[in-house]
Amino acid sequence: MPNLVVIGTQWGDEGKGKIVDLLAAQVAAVVRFQGGHNAGHTVSVGGEEYKLRLIPSGILHPGTICMLGNGVVLDLEELCAEIDALVARGVDVGPERLRISRKCHLILPYHRLLDKARENFKGDGKIGTTGRGIGPCYEDKAGRCGVRVCDLEDMDLVRRKIRLALDEKNVLLAGLYSQKPLTEREVLERIEGSAARIQPYLADISEEMARVEGAGGEILFEGAQGSHLDIDHGTYPFVTSSSTVAGNAAAGSGIGPDHLHRVLGVVKAYTTRVGSGAMPTEQAGEIGGHLQKKGAEFGTVTGRPRRCGWLDLVILRESVRLSGVNSLAVTKLDVLSGLPELKICVAYNYRGRVVEYPPQAEGGLGESVPVYETLGGWTRSLDGIRSFAELPAAARDYVRRLEELAERPVSMVSVGPERDRTIMR
Ligand code: IMP
Repeated sequence: MPNLVVIGTQWGDEGKGKIVDLLAAQVAAVVRFQGGHNAGHTVSVGGEEYKLRLIPSGILHPGTICMLGNGVVLDLEELCAEIDALVARGVDVGPERLRISRKCHLILPYHRLLDKARENFKGDGKIGTTGRGIGPCYEDKAGRCGVRVCDLEDMDLVRRKIRLALDEKNVLLAGLYSQKPLTEREVLERIEGSAARIQPYLADISEEMARVEGAGGEILFEGAQGSHLDIDHGTYPFVTSSSTVAGNAAAGSGIGPDHLHRVLGVVKAYTTRVGSGAMPTEQAGEIGGHLQKKGAEFGTVTGRPRRCGWLDLVILRESVRLSGVNSLAVTKLDVLSGLPELKICVAYNYRGRVVEYPPQAEGGLGESVPVYETLGGWTRSLDGIRSFAELPAAARDYVRRLEELAERPVSMVSVGPERDRTIMR
């Protein structure tokens, strides 16, 4: 298998964790390149469910090395808690299996406080963030005042940076958001313990990837969130703060773009979204209820119910173009079983015109009215189905129509959370 980038083509929660876990057995390394513990990747193995946030979904394959690239933002306490939880369940998460870039930026207590305070302050205009401090951490990175993992080797430097940051953050926290200001000690306490603990995991990820490739190993880059939550290409401002498209797998890990050989786009058979922002195909009534209940559509990180609706090809088509997607993995096809008819949004009506790509104006998606195509549903459960030919005819038609409209082949179809409930084509 050549190096592969796996990305979400919608608003996250496409089921990337399961797909990455499946493919991880064939690669030497799985690398995360953006986001932080706002991600929630669920992997089901042998009747057990693992919820991964920061650690790549390859960790359940003992022979695979997992890496966190420079584009990831790191909450040390959360990372240590995730390591401990996996170790308690018998998963090896030693420093020879998990490698962390020294260039990762740290999420500090004031990032989390500012994230939450700012959301409250915005009231109805809030983004609906996960409240994990992701945005404020990336802001400091871009503002060139962030604390990086490599700084932990020089605690005097860390102290200086934190002191300077608090001079500014406390004005906001106390003056604008009516929060208790933070002391330097409070911030340091939250990182000192874990700082020593993660030292053995630190590495030059770029160099380690070169070594993996030099030994003939292949690398899988695991995207978090989805293309329409991308800071540049997503439904701004209702987006996350990192670049979620495939191209960032190179910059966010330290590898040349020519090493990103193939891109697999993961698409849920319908659409979901958590947090604020437009979602043209959202279904509030019975259809939305069916998808939410049958698909167990509740956020992995925050437990919030996900908004559910029909598959949106306008969104998917743009993701295919933005990331150079070569093939698609369709997930949760089984959730559609039992719906008498299915709709696919093939275009939007936008200000009197029919458009095939999302409008770029802020609020443009909110003004877009879906143009639907209706397909037949199927009643049979997809339990036990392991080949494309065994699927009900209407389910095959649905997947084939998706392929035609996206102009990309569907190479995998997932019909349940377990590894073996996957059709490889
Ligand atoms: P943040 O990433 O916490 O700043 O949240 C920004 C937006 O991205 C919010 O709408 C979140 O609900 C959404 N978001 C962040 N991470 C995920 C994810 O892993 N899955 C789905 N939505 C996410």
